[in-house]
Amino acid sequence: MTSRLTIALAPGDGIGPEIMDATLRLFKEAKVHDHLDFRPVAMGKSVFDTGNSKGITDEAVRAIEDCGVVFKGPMETPKGGGGKSINVTLRKLFSTFANFRVFKTLPGVQTVFSKAGIRLDFSIVRENIEDTYGGVEHRLSNDMIQCKRLISAPGCDQVHRFTFQTAKRLGVTKIHCGHKANIMKMTDGLFLERFRAVGKDFPEIETGDVIVDALCMNMAIKPQQYQMLVLPNLQGDIVSDLAAGLVGGLGFAPSANIGSNIAIFEAVHGTAPDIAGKGIANPTSLILSGLMMLRHVGLLKQAAHLENALLAALETGLRTGDFGDPSLPGYRKEPATTAQFVEGIIERLGEKPKTVPAVAVPEQATPTFAHPARPSGQQVIRTFVNVVTTVVGCDIYLDTPLSPPAVAEEMQRVAQDTPFKLTLISNRGTQVWPTGSVYTECVDYYRVRFELRDGVAPGAIGQSRAVALMDKIAEKFVVCSYELLRSFDGVRGYSLAQGQ
Ligand code: NAI
Repeated sequence: MTSRLTIALAPGDGIGPEIMDATLRLFKEAKVHDHLDFRPVAMGKSVFDTGNSKGITDEAVRAIEDCGVVFKGPMETPKGGGGKSINVTLRKLFSTFANFRVFKTLPGVQTVFSKAGIRLDFSIVRENIEDTYGGVEHRLSNDMIQCKRLISAPGCDQVHRFTFQTAKRLGVTKIHCGHKANIMKMTDGLFLERFRAVGKDFPEIETGDVIVDALCMNMAIKPQQYQMLVLPNLQGDIVSDLAAGLVGGLGFAPSANIGSNIAIFEAVHGTAPDIAGKGIANPTSLILSGLMMLRHVGLLKQAAHLENALLAALETGLRTGDFGDPSLPGYRKEPATTAQFVEGIIERLGEKPKTVPAVAVPEQATPTFAHPARPSGQQVIRTFVNVVTTVVGCDIYLDTPLSPPAVAEEMQRVAQDTPFKLTLISNRGTQVWPTGSVYTECVDYYRVRFELRDGVAPGAIGQSRAVALMDKIAEKFVVCSYELLRSFDGVRGYSLAQGQ
């Protein structure tokens, strides 16, 4: 147990510094600074502007590794050029595999549901590293671009374990896994399978699953049926913004990015360039994210006091220009500035809200967070080991404008005298050879599938024969990529084409 902790602090760009100053002023009044020091780190626009395409300095990376906790404001992503989102970079660099967001009806924030008297209180865990967010993209032909969707078993396990552990801590009794496993049977299928596998360690928590499109409809109609959801990265990104809309918008949704070692707490919204520098931004999202951070490091009492003061202030009608409920007694036509908003919360410190349930105030008021030991190198995380794999063929991807029968003729010729026979050609995932419809429109990028000839036993050849086949094809065609077809403990490790 440590008495003082250092938090890496990055105020951000645009409205970032304004809402960060306001939040820290509030925290100071709640005596948070008796336990926490904030160490400024350089990242975002100022770093991009120096020509650093990562948007973060090496010193900042080291400082974050030392602190283990980052509190950050929104940061601008450079438009065009090679600069990637610093927000995504941070999450991946420090393996913060779970993005945890809480969605609660707040007093003074009018929504369709608040007007109907329906209180919302649920959370979403979004896988934060994998999926299409790997950013592995290639131009494969004149007309085809690819983005690889990567889902790993250990990646799923980490996010699911975090979800179940968090549910247990918060007293959540049911978790739903959102997915699209009916279409992406292998990637989303794995996400769902690992949800069920990890869930077995938490028998006291009920589980359910829901296809993501149905989930969106259910959320619009009856969101109160969900307590906690866990989703793959892209689907989670979209569904969590939908959820933010249900409770009043991005200005009210806090976010924590949690990893095994490092955690990042940030507002969900962006830099709001249209109102930056005017002192009118709403700091609520950053304040709520800060409260998640205080709870993460053990300052439970301070977080509860601050949350109660915020709720008490909001229910009087205190508001910034982006929201408000004219029916509340303290509603002022003239909205508060960011600074006035925070002063309004400070005035309520020690009070509890009257119109909504107050947050219970625990006794724990000193840091419990312990810096993790620095690993000696990057860890390789694994779920399945000792799996028996067998080569059964290969998929070879071609950049060619030929028709399916012409591709088939060429490929059959090349495959003569090899252990492989041509079994399938598909275009955009749909089988176009040996059978298919003449109405299937094709583009200039094909998958050709070769499988072992009759009489060649699975396991009789290694991948070098498949590479040799690719080499032969490359004498005449542009081979864009290649995937080895294998079975894993006897189970097919690849999908069938649509229509196969
Ligand atoms: P944005 O969230 O900055 O703004 C969208 C709208 O919401 C604007 O009208 C803005 O005035 C308003 N708004 C946002 N936060 C507000 C607040 N706290 N108080 C009052 N009004 C608020 O989204 P936009 O315009 O798409 O992105 C601007 C920049 O922010 C981009 O460079 C983007 O890459 C970056 N961004 C950064 C994020 C992060 O750091 N986590 C997240 C999203 C965007």
